[in-house]
Amino acid sequence: MYPTITVSFAQSIDGRIATAGGDSQWISGPDSLHLAQGLRRDNETILVGINTVLRDDPLLTCRIEGSRSPARIVLDSRLRLPVDSKIARTSATYRSVVMTSEPVDSRRARALESLGLEVAVLPRAGEGISVRAAAAWIGERGYRSLFVEGGGAVITAFLRERLVDRMTIVVAPIIVGKGIEAIGDLAIGGLDAALRPSSIGTRRLGDDLVWELSFDRSAPAGKDDGVA
Ligand SMILES: NC(=O)c1ccc[n+]([C@@H]2O[C@H](COP(=O)([O-])OP(=O)(O)OC[C@H]3O[C@@H](n4cnc5c(N)ncnc54)[C@H](OP(=O)(O)O)[C@@H]3O)[C@@H](O)[C@H]2O)c1
Repeated sequence: MYPTITVSFAQSIDGRIATAGGDSQWISGPDSLHLAQGLRRDNETILVGINTVLRDDPLLTCRIEGSRSPARIVLDSRLRLPVDSKIARTSATYRSVVMTSEPVDSRRARALESLGLEVAVLPRAGEGISVRAAAAWIGERGYRSLFVEGGGAVITAFLRERLVDRMTIVVAPIIVGKGIEAIGDLAIGGLDAALRPSSIGTRRLGDDLVWELSFDRSAPAGKDDGVA
């Protein structure tokens, strides 16, 4: 059983989640920044790609008083997660999992495990870890919800596999030009194959426009051949 999967990100009007150099703090306005905190509170797990960790060194906890933090998961097939990253340093306090793939550098794995991180070895699919296998791993451990917070490559992988139930997209009124795209290749040929939400909501938050979308997971999957 897969958990319910929510994707959220803040993008410029021209669809960038960061500049070409990786600067993303902060694309959205102050009101919208609370949105991500609410999603961290409302989901049992949170997942990011290793590039986001290397660029931003996020803690990925929920800072809303009285709320628990989600279990933190990093997709990192080459085990590049730094032992001095905030996630690694706080992994004795907050459950933290690094999902990697063979061949595993056992010395690095032991160093991360000694800090409290769990190293899960998953199959590969396409250009990274199978996101289907990742979702199944999370569901099998009893977690019912997953918040995919970024970056673009990971968001794209979940969308390509039609694993996303909900999306919250914050569109900020800035134009970045060349930069990191929010969503990359979804292997969509014609517009009839474009992803279309089953429900749509929009609202203003300060100067930002927030899109809240739901999807049916009945659409066919893409190329990921991980376990279901
Ligand atoms: N505006 C926002 O809301 C927001 C939110 C989050 C992040 N960001 C920004 O996004 C940027 C990073 O985004 P990004 O697209 O470069 O990288 P990313 O999605 O954070 O990480 C991608 C990396 O994760 C690993 N990975 C493992 N399995 C994968 C899979 N199935 N699919 C995709 N990646 C997989 C790969 O590295 P290996 O091959 O080494 O495993 C891959 O290169 C940063 O600048 C960050 O600041 C913005």
